[in-house]
Amino acid sequence: MKILVTGGAGYIGSHTCIELIKAGFEVIVVDNLCNSSFESLKRVKILADCDIPFYNVDICDKPALIKVFKKHSIDGVVHLAGLKAVGESVEKPIKYYNTNVGGTFILTDVMCEFNCKTIVFSSSATVYGDPQTVPIKENSPLSAKNPYGRSKLMIEEFFQDIFATDDSWRIALLRYFNPIGAHKSGLIGEDPNGVPNNLIPYISQVAVGKLEKLSVFGGDYDTPDGTGVRDYIHVVDLAKGHVKSLQALKNKPQVFIVNLGTGKGFSVLEMIKAFEKASKKKIPYQIVDRRLGDIAICYADPTFAKEKINWKAEYELNEMCEDTWRWQSLNLDGYPRYK
Ligand code: NAD
Ligand code: WQD
Repeated sequence: MKILVTGGAGYIGSHTCIELIKAGFEVIVVDNLCNSSFESLKRVKILADCDIPFYNVDICDKPALIKVFKKHSIDGVVHLAGLKAVGESVEKPIKYYNTNVGGTFILTDVMCEFNCKTIVFSSSATVYGDPQTVPIKENSPLSAKNPYGRSKLMIEEFFQDIFATDDSWRIALLRYFNPIGAHKSGLIGEDPNGVPNNLIPYISQVAVGKLEKLSVFGGDYDTPDGTGVRDYIHVVDLAKGHVKSLQALKNKPQVFIVNLGTGKGFSVLEMIKAFEKASKKKIPYQIVDRRLGDIAICYADPTFAKEKINWKAEYELNEMCEDTWRWQSLNLDGYPRYK
């Protein structure tokens, strides 16, 4: 089965390509490299020991997408291409809606032209907003709080509408919790541009000496130690969730939504401790004001993912931190930046 991976050069995409190939899928990648480097795909090819056709294409460029679909008879799409910085989405909503929502419309249109009706889409736990209760089930109330989150919700609703009018589609909407970690080889991992927004990339750059200290955003949340609690999931577990989703979609046309999380929450202070243990480095930190828009606590109920796609996260927190550390310490400045 030939799978087009949009955003396949990115953090989650590169790991997903490997798991797809391991499971016997043929992979083709489109990515405009706006937040990634071709080097990640070169390394994926080494790890997967096979060639991966790559197209430097923007998902908003319909003629270019059509060319890719003409060249390869694509059976399904794993759609990860998109912009993901919450803060930037507040400043540049048009850019975010154009790329995330507009790009998905264009991609889907092209899929229809080629009668390709299987898609796995990367949504986010951000669609739950500030959850009223945890663990969060798929049918918990939805309330995205920023343009990034709303773009994910709109796309989810768009795909539900598609299925409502044409029930021959096979659609998986995956709500990722907080992906961290890296491939065991240390060859591929998360490579943010500039100063990282997310906790683990920031901590790992402190550990490696690139940043001086971590600011812990808020020490007065209603959580056991006052700092924010999240469901961190190993990116390889997450990648396997895409394989399992495609396998589940094979059974029959359907649309489903599943949480991809571990079901366990860890606080910022617990994450610092776990990372110190994995890296054997001290992480200096100071508690500062809360970050605007942050929530206290968020973790998944992963029961439905087990039921629906026979998937369960396997990696524990120590391995997530050890693998992040291996990637970061072997690649001080991430991938070489020749794009
Ligand atoms: P990433 O930025 O590493 O990967 C996204 C990839 O898409 C990049 O390689 C980028 O170059 C590419 N891209 C962006 N706009 C494009 C366009 N217009 N045309 C073609 N390619 C384009 O991010 P990631 O962490 O791997 O995230 C992948 C997906 O998962 C995103 O859709 C993101 O919103 C979603 N997601 C990520 C997280 C997370 O915390 N990392 C959580 C939930 C959901
Ligand atoms: C985790 C915890 C912070 C940085 C974001 C997006 C979400 C999703 C994943 C895509 C929180 C604290 C962080 C720092 C800190 N992305 N923190 N100091 O906010 O759960 O989710 O990324 O869909 O949409 O909102 O992840 O890693 O930024 O933060 O104290 O320098 O770490 O306050 O409690 P978050 P994060």
